[in-house]
Amino acid sequence: MTKIAPSILSADFAKLGEEIKEVEKAGADYVHVDVMDGHFVPNITIGPLIGDAIKPITNLPLDVHLMIENPDVYIPQFAKSASIITVHQEACVHLHRTLQLIRSHGVKPGVVINPGTPAEAIKPVLTEVDLVLLMTVNPGFGGQSFIKEVVPKIAQIAAWRDEMGLSFEIEIDGGVNEETAAVCTANGADVLVAGSAIFNQSDRKKAIDLIRKSAEK
Ligand code: DX5
Ligand code: ZN
Repeated sequence: MTKIAPSILSADFAKLGEEIKEVEKAGADYVHVDVMDGHFVPNITIGPLIGDAIKPITNLPLDVHLMIENPDVYIPQFAKSASIITVHQEACVHLHRTLQLIRSHGVKPGVVINPGTPAEAIKPVLTEVDLVLLMTVNPGFGGQSFIKEVVPKIAQIAAWRDEMGLSFEIEIDGGVNEETAAVCTANGADVLVAGSAIFNQSDRKKAIDLIRKSAEK
């Protein structure tokens, strides 16, 4: 079954704990934590303290998406609460080293690419990762529109996974909703991140069910 990872970027931060408990009860599989530094992306969001605060209140794995420069400096701090840490290929000078650093902290490493970055940029590290995250918006904000030109990249990464006999998950992030979920899973996605399509709805269970239903088509 397709995994759903609600992005807390669109949650009400004044009651973050309740928001997370609600999506956990509604059937979410991961909690997606969007970390932005105001340098790699034009927005500032969550630091490691928030990860430490929410870890004890949920049984769901924290899927920490680092949209920051110099991720190596902060990986040890985020590793205290994260189950998965994904880093952008565009932000890593020594990508293998960074992915190995994540694993050395007992956390699953994942690699992310922006919509404008070709799949070939991460082919050399596919053997190192537990997850590949393909952005379907340019990172920085919730509520943007799905860039459909990324879809062939999902199929390409899935094809390489088969050819290479690997088993990493393929996750899609940006503009995922009940309309766009189907094309992602039809092309090989396993995990769908959704922020506004879940947290901007009053009935979170209904929102998750609608995305999953579209994904299973
Ligand atoms: C964008 C973030 C996303 C974002 C998704 O930079 O990485 O995780 O929260 O939000 P929606 O689902 O609203 O596009
Ligand atoms: Zn994200």
